[in-house]
Amino acid sequence: MSQHLDSRLLLGVSGGISAYKSVDLVRRLKERGFEVRVVMTQAATALITPLTFQAVSGHPVRTRLFDPVAEAGMDHIELARWAEWLLIAPATADLMARMAAGIADDLLTTLVLATDAQVCLAPAMNQHMWRHPATQENLETLRARGARILGPIDGDQACGDVGPGRMLEPIEIAESIRPRAEPPLAGVRVLLTAGPTREPLDPVRYLGNRSSGRMGYALANVLCDLGAQVILVSGPTELPAPPVVELVSVETAAEMHAAVMGRTTACDLFVATAAVADYRPASPAAHKIKKDAAELSLRLIRNPDILAQVAALPNPPFTVGFAAETREVERAARDKLTSKGLDMIAANQVGEPLGGFESEDNALTVLWDGGRRDLPMMTKTRLARELALLIVERYRERHAAST
Ligand code: PMT
Repeated sequence: MSQHLDSRLLLGVSGGISAYKSVDLVRRLKERGFEVRVVMTQAATALITPLTFQAVSGHPVRTRLFDPVAEAGMDHIELARWAEWLLIAPATADLMARMAAGIADDLLTTLVLATDAQVCLAPAMNQHMWRHPATQENLETLRARGARILGPIDGDQACGDVGPGRMLEPIEIAESIRPRAEPPLAGVRVLLTAGPTREPLDPVRYLGNRSSGRMGYALANVLCDLGAQVILVSGPTELPAPPVVELVSVETAAEMHAAVMGRTTACDLFVATAAVADYRPASPAAHKIKKDAAELSLRLIRNPDILAQVAALPNPPFTVGFAAETREVERAARDKLTSKGLDMIAANQVGEPLGGFESEDNALTVLWDGGRRDLPMMTKTRLARELALLIVERYRERHAAST
């Protein structure tokens, strides 16, 4: 399923009989790549249960402004900021009147005032109510404030009347918001490294690190969702394979280096999430090392820096690195951004109980020439999506500049 840059849609359901159709509307919107969260008025809950919308949207449904549990999760101001679209379907005459008057006496009308999102209304009401001058004036007020009005249409009404006031069909509403579009990374070839490397000491032991591959695999999944053709070069992990065009399993940094350098010509975007060993044992023992000696010294030699080499190619792809640091995270990441000549770098604090290696969650500070964005602690799945959208923005900008 494709995701889009402006894909966060808050669906407001007010108390019209066509509220039941909004269940199908959620499905149609999700098919078009929207992440949908639903807010219902009290009147709407008399017609259809919040649980139905929860099941179809995959998110808890908000119905009240002062709900301590819901507010502790994502409070209403955060919800208003989260939304890129606020679609109200059905929009009743009463709701439109309250909106036009700037009243904020429930959660939905409060969100209308608190959000910067594009507001769209799909009115639905009895034909007399629709034709009433008060409704028509409210409609014009809302339109003048920038609301997009979708419908209504003429037809049979639930009350037995025939005339204007029937809500547009869910598919028509979804199409008006956004027709099925080409995903933003359609045709873009991505080469991505993930997971740890293992540097053999002898046939049974290795030098490794704590990378689980979660961050990289989450990113691979999102980039595939965004339409990219992803080649994943992965160190050893326990994770199921994402839907990539090619999965290259490697063990050592040298193998990862060879796998990546052999595939850079067919690559528009390179993302290095792998935790590559900087050093490897100079001469791995041919046989298992015995514990005869009281002390043992290892001589290590440098591994090639895959990311730096890709960025230094004559025609480099758009290159995104990671930086795993235990201190001075941002400064070290900015150094890597410039010294390796990267387009972007995603820095994370490692070595703490929360985030970084192994954990299900992580937080990133994303840096690029002239910009930065903090992505706070969240699941790696969600974080990957946030990061991917930033990558898409920067990638498109660079392409727009070079064409
Ligand atoms: O796999 P998880 O358990 O989910 O953990 C995720 C993660 C912490 C591994 C990930 O978020 C992360 O930070 N990955 C980069 C780890 C790392 O090696 O960082 P670094 O600062 O040492 O390296 C900088 C960059 O150079 C990285 O993009 C790395 O892939 C790359 N590199 C490093 C050394 C080398 N020889 N070749 C490289 O390409």
